[in-house]
Amino acid sequence: MAHTVVIFGASGDLTSRKLIPALYSLHHKGRLPDQTRVVGVSRTSFTSEAWREELAASTQQFAGTEFDSAAWQRFAGSLFYHAGDIDKLDDFAALAKFLNDLEGHAGATRVYYLSTAPSLYAAAIANLGAAGLADESRGVRRVVIEKPFGRDLKSAQELNRRAHQVFAEQQVYRIDHYLGKETVQNLLVLRFANSIFEPLWNRRYIDHVQITVAEEVDVGRRAGYYDQAGVLRDMFQNHLLQLLMVVAMEAPARYTADFIRDEKVKVLRAIKPLASADIARDTVRGQYEGYRQAEGVPQGSQTATFAAIKLQVDNWRWQGVPFYLRSGKVMSCRTSQIVIQYRQPPIMMFDSGPRSHLDANKLVVQIQPAEGIQLHFQTKVPDAGMRLRTTDLDFKFAREFTGAMPDSYQRLLLDAMTGDASLFARSDEVEVAWSIIDPILAAWQTPSAPPLEIYPRGDWGPAASDEWMKAQGREWFDVCPVLH
Ligand code: BG6
Repeated sequence: MAHTVVIFGASGDLTSRKLIPALYSLHHKGRLPDQTRVVGVSRTSFTSEAWREELAASTQQFAGTEFDSAAWQRFAGSLFYHAGDIDKLDDFAALAKFLNDLEGHAGATRVYYLSTAPSLYAAAIANLGAAGLADESRGVRRVVIEKPFGRDLKSAQELNRRAHQVFAEQQVYRIDHYLGKETVQNLLVLRFANSIFEPLWNRRYIDHVQITVAEEVDVGRRAGYYDQAGVLRDMFQNHLLQLLMVVAMEAPARYTADFIRDEKVKVLRAIKPLASADIARDTVRGQYEGYRQAEGVPQGSQTATFAAIKLQVDNWRWQGVPFYLRSGKVMSCRTSQIVIQYRQPPIMMFDSGPRSHLDANKLVVQIQPAEGIQLHFQTKVPDAGMRLRTTDLDFKFAREFTGAMPDSYQRLLLDAMTGDASLFARSDEVEVAWSIIDPILAAWQTPSAPPLEIYPRGDWGPAASDEWMKAQGREWFDVCPVLH
């Protein structure tokens, strides 16, 4: 069966930077299903030719070395543009006719990709329904919804309700591009395709877990959105909690979408909600220096661009093992890492010289850049009595495998087209995630919130975050990509 990917928000940034380059790369690698057509929809009036020309330039820029003019020409023939306004039902009726004509008698599997402003998601879904575009008599219909999925629990529930009025849950694909990252999927492989890590993956051996997503960039031209969102909505409710779920979940009985998502949701449900009285103790919030001077940021904005939070997963595997999550803009470097820090040996029988406290064993999973894994352990320094030093074993994807790491949108788009929802969030998953973030957002609006710490650009966030860890007898793993 043929496939049609309909992108709403066709003139937007995501379409030119991510979606079209990903579809082009899939085509170039021969992975795009035969007879795939891509239809762009947005208000701007464009011809298909003009859209193709514009995308040729942006794809060349964003697909990098993979760009090949001849391959692009072949791919571009399957790109079409149809102008339409999300708020106008008539435009959806015209779109339905356009798609039916394009697909002909045979019909096609369709993916509607909502890459518009989030405020338009509900209208787009309602009009897809009203124009008969969700009807599956001429092929499967799926809808991909970009983040943010709501801005709190209530709005996420409302969006789920609206989506379910038109689409069944198995037709709805809520995207979180972190799940499309190769290293995140490799975490499942590391844990469940090996037998040496899993026995040590619990409260008996692990002291704590750190999940850091540090960004070097500032808010750029996105201040209008970002100042309303802040780091908790932008990064924690989705990406960081997704990483936590993959680290903490039990092994699913089978590798299928619902088995995986059942296990992930169980982790979220086991997280002890932060009581408002604990939020000043268990969270740190910061804002980078100069944020308020950025274009579009209101004077005196209290929006956090950095946060660190401590969560407890209250189940048999993790009880008493804190999960420290932190993310921020304008930090020292771009790096996303998960650090599994093991307990100290019960007794240290070696007199290791002046350093009485040896570094504990760590397993560092570097999600980006330079994807890989590093294991830290103690080694005897040769010819120096029983002096010990922390040494490591490295695994790097780039050393073991050839070819560039694919952008996460390639995997996710292909999965949405072929109907594999394993790497997409289910309705209950996004709602429970919001129920963890909402109380923190609420408490941060009250006088008992932790102070908003201003941090210098290019640092690891506010000094208060280091002190907070120290006060708990722990230390952040502040290493700018540990693997290169
Ligand atoms: C997006 C956020 O979801 O993720 C951005 O809205 C952030 O603010 C981005 O910069 C980070 O993604 P990545 O893949 O570059 O780590």
